[in-house]
Amino acid sequence: MSVKKLVSKIGLAIIGSGDIGRARAEFARIYPGVEWIGVCDINRERAQLLADEIQADFVTSDAAELLSRSEVNAVIIATNETAHYAPVLLAIERNLSIFIEKPLAVDFAQSIELSNQIAAAGIDAVMGYTQRFRQRFLVVKEKLDTNQIGHVTSVTAKGMLNRTIANMVLSRANDHRNITPIVTSGTHMLDMCFWLMGDIKPKSIFARSTDKIFGSSGSKDTTMAVIEFNNDTLLSVAHSWAAPENWPGGVYGMQIGLIGTDGVIEIDDMHKEVILASNHYQPPGYKRDAQIDLKSNRQNRNVDFLTSIPFGQRSQSEMWGPIREETFSWFHRLLTGAKTPHTTAKEGHENLAICMAIDYAAKTGGILEIPQDLNNLQQYF
Ligand SMILES: NC(=O)c1ccc[n+]([C@@H]2O[C@H](COP(=O)([O-])OP(=O)(O)OC[C@H]3O[C@@H](n4cnc5c(N)ncnc54)[C@H](O)[C@@H]3O)[C@@H](O)[C@H]2O)c1
Repeated sequence: MSVKKLVSKIGLAIIGSGDIGRARAEFARIYPGVEWIGVCDINRERAQLLADEIQADFVTSDAAELLSRSEVNAVIIATNETAHYAPVLLAIERNLSIFIEKPLAVDFAQSIELSNQIAAAGIDAVMGYTQRFRQRFLVVKEKLDTNQIGHVTSVTAKGMLNRTIANMVLSRANDHRNITPIVTSGTHMLDMCFWLMGDIKPKSIFARSTDKIFGSSGSKDTTMAVIEFNNDTLLSVAHSWAAPENWPGGVYGMQIGLIGTDGVIEIDDMHKEVILASNHYQPPGYKRDAQIDLKSNRQNRNVDFLTSIPFGQRSQSEMWGPIREETFSWFHRLLTGAKTPHTTAKEGHENLAICMAIDYAAKTGGILEIPQDLNNLQQYF
């Protein structure tokens, strides 16, 4: 789909005034092409706090009210994982350009509906897969696109999160059915693998999960899968969000290796390059308010892999990192029609289908054959 060029100035709605909505709102405030900003949160206090911080032009606790304002021509949906569907639907009805945090939905039928409606309306909708905006991955993408390692025959991907993140994500979802390590966090690593591997389709999946830590919450700890693709490339995935709170990785670490017929690329993204050891407690995670139950490990975390919050971190009172480039790049896309590396809503939908298929394969134990049309997976979810 071609990128739609918008008007010469952006009127931006931000739905969800939590940590990620706040970061994106701050970028909007300093971007010259953004003329008007309205913020929203069902938690009115939180919306007001953000509105005051960025001097928003409008504040409400009602997404429909914000999206019906005539100034709005683009929207960022930064609500929590289980609350993307309703505001995205409203944004489609208003024919707005949309930026949606991952996942597109946690219900597959809703994801199909959103993806179909976005396509039918010809809306430019992209998703927050922020790791694509890191230099290391953009460089690897370029080397693969210019065939520097030949035909990629196998990919191994390992991802590990501090369990603080799992606790936080589970605590803000009422229904934990699809709040699994793969659907809510492995999705970032899989987006990276699929993007790097190019336009190939999965053929079959074998998977297993463990659940000693998060089983009692209706979720899983670690999921491992082997995926076979239609060009015979094999992808092995091992993803866990159960590393203890005192693991020095604050949020997310990855290792991805690609073996091709003419070469190899190894990406060590565990963030061990910059290590802090301190007599002072170093909190994991990225939340600014105290939503997180750190339990008995509160005093034990004194070593930190700095930069292990991959989307970015604050310094000098501002957020720095790929989330900045991703957000500015989206504004640039809106204003100029530029081609950008953003994940499209269609890719986000396909990503969700494969994440859910991995969980289903782990649950049922057999080899899951993947239909040509990923929407046919709906019968299993
Ligand atoms: N791009 C990235 O790298 C990245 C990193 C972390 C989180 N995320 C994603 O960003 C999203 C937000 O995460 P967060 O950590 O900021 O969450 P958060 O809990 O801090 O904020 C979410 C906010 O949405 C509000 N909300 C919920 N339903 C709403 C509705 N219907 N209308 C208006 N407001 C509503 C909540 O009250 C809350 O304040 C999630 O989907 C998460 O997975 C993306």
